[in-house]
Amino acid sequence: MDRPRDMAAIAALAPVVPVLTIERVADAVPLARALVRGGLRVLEITLRTGVALEALRAIACEVPDAVVGAGTVLNAQQLDQARQAGARFVVSPGCTPALVTAALASELPFLPGVQTVSEAMVLAERGISLLKFFPADTVGGLGWLKAVAAPLAGVRFCPTGGIGPDTAPAYLSLANVACVGGSWVAPRNAVVAKDWAAIERLAAAAANLKQP
Ligand code: 3PG
Repeated sequence: MDRPRDMAAIAALAPVVPVLTIERVADAVPLARALVRGGLRVLEITLRTGVALEALRAIACEVPDAVVGAGTVLNAQQLDQARQAGARFVVSPGCTPALVTAALASELPFLPGVQTVSEAMVLAERGISLLKFFPADTVGGLGWLKAVAAPLAGVRFCPTGGIGPDTAPAYLSLANVACVGGSWVAPRNAVVAKDWAAIERLAAAAANLKQP
């Protein structure tokens, strides 16, 4: 299978990146398979549970069509743990100079979070021009993205946070949006019930949303 090596190539694989917080490692592979069957190949596993790295490793080993990455990466140590578990990319909710340096040294595709124009400018100066806009719905949403399109002409975003099936199309219609992230394609109750068919249906609907 292809192994996209930069974040823009990964973002181009699907309009929606499921943000997954996995509580039982046994759920990881069937959940990933359901999402991939639905057409969503790029999966973000948040490092917020005790089994997150094990879940990431299982998906990396057993679901070859998935492009699995780690989310909620806050520091260089977590970045290294994610890389060792097989992460193909890493996502952070914000950014620190140390994390940016570690990510660039690792050569792992990196999607750092920003909320402000200045944060975006600092990252663009370091060669990172695809950014997570987080928490999108809370800090300006569509209006913010439209307002920065001209001044930050070389920057594109993956808005995440508070986005759902009703609002995702408007985000995806913007030229400076590469894809959106969200947890709505894998609702906790469906995962607890192991309702993989329902998750596949949600993924299929999300995969059919327009990608710029
Ligand atoms: C997160 O970090 O939980 C993501 O931003 C997902 O946000 P959402 O649950 O609002 O989609």
